[in-house]
Amino acid sequence: MTTSSPAEQGALIEQVIRERRTIGAFKPDSVPTATVQRAIEAATWAPNHRKTEPWRFYSLGPTSQQAIINLLIETLTATKGAEAATAKANKWRGVPGWLVVTSRVPAAEVTGRERFVQTQEDYASVCCAIQNFSLVMSAQGLGTKWSTGDVTSHPEFLPRLGIDPQHETFVGLIWYGYPAVVPQQTRRPVHEVLFDRP
Ligand SMILES: Cc1cc2nc3c(=O)[nH]c(=O)nc-3n(C[C@H](O)[C@H](O)[C@H](O)COP(=O)(O)O)c2cc1C
Repeated sequence: MTTSSPAEQGALIEQVIRERRTIGAFKPDSVPTATVQRAIEAATWAPNHRKTEPWRFYSLGPTSQQAIINLLIETLTATKGAEAATAKANKWRGVPGWLVVTSRVPAAEVTGRERFVQTQEDYASVCCAIQNFSLVMSAQGLGTKWSTGDVTSHPEFLPRLGIDPQHETFVGLIWYGYPAVVPQQTRRPVHEVLFDRP
């Protein structure tokens, strides 16, 4: 039973949206599986055109985390040297929760413009799902960081997790845990981003 008014509920939702922050530093404590599953269940209530439900979530255990850290070391050693690679690998090793989120590639019979549109729409839906996940985690006192970059865009990233890139595309590596530090953020005022048209 809900005891708060619609206005109170609206204010609460707004507060959760505003207070979610990208977290760069986590405490070492692990997060209960039930908490993560609850956030993933909420994530799947994201809008999705034609009910494609394109999201797939991969919860990475130690072996898969190590596979990604190995890929980080390989790529970073080649570009920035062994010392930089070790430093970053040590930072990544300290992240308690790892989730990879992908989008299902449209079926082979979906072709041409229809395929382009569905790919875009599915990507948008998965982004909404990630936001849902992050908001629900944040509302429970947890932090998340949506991470992308040279490692996640590496052609080996999905295969090393046993994911076939012909069937799924990468959308986000989501780190999560209890925040060690919650940073401040700013946004442009609405009048800078809202434009009237007759
Ligand atoms: C698609 C996407 C990719 C991102 N990749 C990274 C990343 O690789 N590294 C990072 O520090 N933050 C990343 N972020 C988080 C943004 O840096 C962050 O949202 C921005 O600084 C605003 O902070 P806030 O989320 O706390 O409002 C990403 C966010 C999105 C939506």
